[in-house]
Amino acid sequence: MKKNKKSIIREDNSDGPIQVVVLGAGMHAKVVADVVMLAGYKVRTFLDDNEELHGKQLLGIPILGSIKLLGDLHLDPNLGAIVGIGDNFAREQFYRKLIEFDFPIISAVHPSAFVNHRVYLGQGAVVMAQVAVNVGTRIGENCILNTSCSIDHDCFIGDHVHIAPGAVLGGSVHVDDFALVGLGSSILPEIKIGKRSVVGAGSVVVEDVADNTVVAGAPARVVRTLGRDERPPGPGVKGKLFIRYM
Ligand SMILES: CC(C)(COP(=O)(O)OP(=O)(O)OC[C@H]1O[C@@H](n2cnc3c(N)ncnc32)[C@H](O)[C@@H]1OP(=O)(O)O)[C@@H](O)C(=O)NCCC(=O)NCCS
Repeated sequence: MKKNKKSIIREDNSDGPIQVVVLGAGMHAKVVADVVMLAGYKVRTFLDDNEELHGKQLLGIPILGSIKLLGDLHLDPNLGAIVGIGDNFAREQFYRKLIEFDFPIISAVHPSAFVNHRVYLGQGAVVMAQVAVNVGTRIGENCILNTSCSIDHDCFIGDHVHIAPGAVLGGSVHVDDFALVGLGSSILPEIKIGKRSVVGAGSVVVEDVADNTVVAGAPARVVRTLGRDERPPGPGVKGKLFIRYM
């Protein structure tokens, strides 16, 4: 995907925190906004296509309107943006919108997270509380490293990946684009998790997982292989939590 090279210009010469718009105004967006603020930014507003949310507030911050308002907001050179949507595919769609508008995209790291200084963190990443990322790891664009997950040395994490709370990745694990590594799962060192694949909550993955495959259990076994146009399950119960974004 084309990289967004635009940076935030402080034309107002203010010393205040850089302001950020969060795309999405659901429960994941709430946590993202909290991390963004703890990372030293100010959240100016949320945008969400769910009209029922418009005019309401999240964390005391207004939900201004739909995503199309990006068209006006991107004219403000002091404003950055980040996507606050848990589902990998919906998150990628909104991330793409930010690229289209050439919006400066921020990454946010919770102050309690440990990200080794020899880690590459792609733009748009959100690193939640108590996460640990060890030396030599590469994290792609628009990823979620969720609460208390642990990613050891020399891992490769693709773009639009979600490592769920409490997941533990051994050294040199490869997680390909759009994969979801479920809550509390463990991935043994040097294992490869394929593109668009899903590792069920609590699984222990002891062998490579092919692309488009759902695995679960300890040791993890294939639950099903996804059809070519089939959407993988999202992060909610049976993938239902975030479908309104599509
Ligand atoms: C694995 C998962 C994706 C399966 O979803 P699914 O494709 O809709 O599959 P189903 O719910 O129909 O379950 C299929 C089978 O796998 C079993 N199964 C489902 N999840 C499982 C899990 N985590 N561990 C072990 N077995 C599991 C079911 O019991 C069922 O078994 P059965 O065929 O013997 O009845 C889902 O249960 C899961 O764990 N998602 C991860 C959620 C998560 O961690 N989100 C992050 C939130 S931040």
